[in-house]
Amino acid sequence: MECTNMEQKSPFLSKMINAARVYYIETFGCQMNVRDSETAAGLLETVGFSRGTDKESAALILFNTCCVRDHAEKRVFGNIGALKERKDENPNLIIGVFGCMMQQQEVAEKLYKRFPFVDIVFGTNLLSRLPAFVESAEAGSRTLAVDENNIQIEDDLPSIRTGKINAFVNINYGCDNFCTYCIVPFVRGRERSREMQAVVDEAKKLVAEGYTELTLLGQNVNSYGKDLINASFASLLTEVSKVEGLKRIRFMTSHPKDLSDEMIAAMASLPNVCHHVHLPMQSGSNEILSRMNRKYTRERYLEIVQKLQAAMPDVELTTDIIVGFPGETEEDFLQTLDLVEQVGFASAFTFKYSPRKGTSAATMEEQVTDITKRERLQRLNALQERKSRENNEKYVGLAGIVHVEDCNTKNEPVCYGKFSNFKMVYFTGTPELIGQYVPVTVTNVRKNSLYGKTAESSKYKTDTN
Ligand code: 5AD
Ligand code: SF4
Repeated sequence: MECTNMEQKSPFLSKMINAARVYYIETFGCQMNVRDSETAAGLLETVGFSRGTDKESAALILFNTCCVRDHAEKRVFGNIGALKERKDENPNLIIGVFGCMMQQQEVAEKLYKRFPFVDIVFGTNLLSRLPAFVESAEAGSRTLAVDENNIQIEDDLPSIRTGKINAFVNINYGCDNFCTYCIVPFVRGRERSREMQAVVDEAKKLVAEGYTELTLLGQNVNSYGKDLINASFASLLTEVSKVEGLKRIRFMTSHPKDLSDEMIAAMASLPNVCHHVHLPMQSGSNEILSRMNRKYTRERYLEIVQKLQAAMPDVELTTDIIVGFPGETEEDFLQTLDLVEQVGFASAFTFKYSPRKGTSAATMEEQVTDITKRERLQRLNALQERKSRENNEKYVGLAGIVHVEDCNTKNEPVCYGKFSNFKMVYFTGTPELIGQYVPVTVTNVRKNSLYGKTAESSKYKTDTN
């Protein structure tokens, strides 16, 4: 049920915001949230706001929140609390909070009550109404708007891209998997795919704007098209890859259970699809994978990895892993370490399990103590650090094409960017290289990064871009 509450503020506070109308958006969470913030920015700019670079000069501060883990939630509350003083000094400042966390009615109400100086609180699915909420705030009204049922995100809203060299493109929204630890299906709703033509048209538009690299986004890109006729992720990749001028196509996130042979074949054969898969493993124990409702086994996971590696010898894999899921024994955890050892991920995001209200794992018995979670996380991170180092070392002496993201000219002039397969490389260069595709030979590994120098041509055999 939708709950919209617009409350009058005192006339003293209802003055118009200052003339500059600069906005600042702070984004927590995943790429999907980054993309939503780009839409929020587009909506604000259509009603006359302009982008600011810091909170201090902003007339409107928006927080785009995440609720996937407890840590993100605490940080949001802390950050908002810290703005009270600024609001006391400048009552015209407008503060808004939206995103996944605000998609939960109870949490949104709690925040709205706890922070009376926050003007706007709304769930992600009401993003298109942002200009109206801001207008009300400028007129002195507070807004609390949560719609838990209608979880539709409108396509084709204006947006301002923030990626310098890479643009995010949503391909499907929501998630039907209900992994037992995860809040996402509750706040992002059921899976819905965008029409293939809409994705292709957006890709063409982005190329016309100057982008040559895209990242296709979805909670589970591999199940793209299951709600459409004659569409699959492999066929989408094939269509997008035909867009002229598109040099690199990335995608995330891939659920192992939906990663098809057809998709591997498409990845391997389409020259502009990058050889990188973010393939969350979550656990290496079959017992825990089953309790997580992941619908694959460690054997199946390894089989997929081997198929990917056989089809693309230069493929790199990254992953997400949770330690301390309810019931995880030392033996289960050792299975996780073993799978990490066997796969050899380029990098991994590792998390302590964090109970999320409303998910089935939150009420499971045998919750693991925080001390054990912390200790397991340390052991896992130490192993992954070694695996990342080993992974880096294999690049020394190889050349590849780096798509230059940025350059730092403060000390020595260092540029950085990624090989097609997601490996980040640093090399000596100057800012005019930003956006270009530069051949670089890796010369050494410093800390956890690859360093190189510009090369004549790429000898890195499968990196064709
Ligand atoms: N606790 C810890 N980690 C979680 N993730 C999702 N939900 C939880 C949770 N309740 C992690 C998963 C997922 C990533 C985005 O966040 O590893 O892949
Ligand atoms: Fe969450 Fe699982 Fe869906 Fe990923 S696949 S968003 S972990 S429910």
